Amino acid sequence: MKKREISISFLEYTGIDELPESDRSLVEEAINAASGSYAPYSHFNVGAAIMLDDGTVVRGANVENAAFPSGSCAEKTALSYSVANHHDKKAVSIAIAALSEGVLTDQPVPPCGNCRQMLIEEEQRTGHPIKVILAGQSGVTVLDNCQSLMPLSFTRSNLVK
Ligand code: THU
Repeated sequence: MKKREISISFLEYTGIDELPESDRSLVEEAINAASGSYAPYSHFNVGAAIMLDDGTVVRGANVENAAFPSGSCAEKTALSYSVANHHDKKAVSIAIAALSEGVLTDQPVPPCGNCRQMLIEEEQRTGHPIKVILAGQSGVTVLDNCQSLMPLSFTRSNLVK
């Protein structure tokens, strides 16, 4: 028997203004994307912006539904659009921002487990890490890749006998 440990590292910025310009502009895209949110139940408007390797920015927002599980998170909306419409391009980074009552949340909002699963598979599909930028008023968290958001995740290789 062996005891193993997994550690992750990430950067913490004091706010959006401290980010490098390219990350800051992607966060602004994510904030703007939240205006496309349909969230009559939670009133929690989430925006996501994905930067592709050719500079294209794909935006997504959360879309809720009266049958609650039928809704989609902002990250999943953006990623699905990106894969469906820019199939041969690689996502290099994703910024996520959430507005509550029209105001950017104080703390960064991390993606849910489902979205982490989707983002990790996209990294594996393209062979390219996707940098994650989680933006809040009082702090921004930046990770080099999505895999570190969910160690020991279920992957395609688990399906192969
Ligand atoms: N939501 C997202 O869009 N992304 C996240 O990372 C967390 C949660 C959405 C789902 C739902 O529409 C609302 O936020 C409240 O959970």
